[in-house]
Amino acid sequence: MEIIKEISKMKEISKLWKRKGYKISFVPTMGFLHEAHLALVRKAKELGDKTVVSIFVNPLQFGPKEDFREYPRDLERDLTLLEREKVDVVFIPETEEMYPSDFQTYVEVTKLTTGLCGAFRPGHFKGVTTVVLKLFNIINPDIAIFGEKDYQQLQVIKQMVKDLNLDIEIVAHPTVRENDGLAMSSRNIYLSTEERKSATVLYKALLLAKELINKGERDSQNLKNKLEEFIHSFPYTKVQYIEFVDPLTLEPVKKIEKPVLCALAVFVGKARLIDNMLINLE
Ligand code: PAJ
Repeated sequence: MEIIKEISKMKEISKLWKRKGYKISFVPTMGFLHEAHLALVRKAKELGDKTVVSIFVNPLQFGPKEDFREYPRDLERDLTLLEREKVDVVFIPETEEMYPSDFQTYVEVTKLTTGLCGAFRPGHFKGVTTVVLKLFNIINPDIAIFGEKDYQQLQVIKQMVKDLNLDIEIVAHPTVRENDGLAMSSRNIYLSTEERKSATVLYKALLLAKELINKGERDSQNLKNKLEEFIHSFPYTKVQYIEFVDPLTLEPVKKIEKPVLCALAVFVGKARLIDNMLINLE
């Protein structure tokens, strides 16, 4: 496994691989890897000839009051895990090289980023698309894997690839969960033992939404009210949003008549957790 820091070196290797006709698959991450990241890596290995994983805590996608400084980091452990997965290259760029002092170009997907997390994290998705496009340009992958846990991010990336005519196949990986349903996340480390118990409420609320819809509830406002009450019955929780949206446009749905995405953002203690579920009508 090769560890590469310089952008020029990464480009060189990628060019060499391309010349040899290898299919490059890529998993972008912010590190502090867990089993879900590794599931994406395994998928990448399955789909490509050469696999690149990037680790970069991207300052551009954190708001001024968000957790950029506290974001968990453990590079040594990450590298051990990736070595075990037989990843070909780990790309760990320096912030100064990614964003030199004269940096001034951004890429922004407009409509898809207005709702859900975009409404509460101004500039977040602009930071994500900018860094992901830079990584795509540096690594030049044929395939890139993204998790459905960050459903809006996945749709935003797909839109960017389509709008900017990038020759990259975006592959979605299903959400990987702990045994009790909690979606794996680097931010779960922020949870105390008691908060960790409450954190299962996100998945439970999604299952409740599914159950209510299957029982015939079609009014999303009624569903939101019931879910909010349910979530707040768990200690340390504070709902940021509960939304029922069209799975493709992410536009809010009032009356549920076709498959719908239920998406949640809930603070459990200081940890902001998100989760979502695609609900089909039975
Ligand atoms: P990060 O949060 O490290 O996630 C890296 C990838 O792992 C993303 O595609 C994310 O959706 C996926 N992932 C995380 N937890 C998951 C889970 N429980 N199940 C399935 N997939 C999961 O997302 C980012 O980093 C950044 O925004 C990034 C795309 C790297 C740009 O900076």
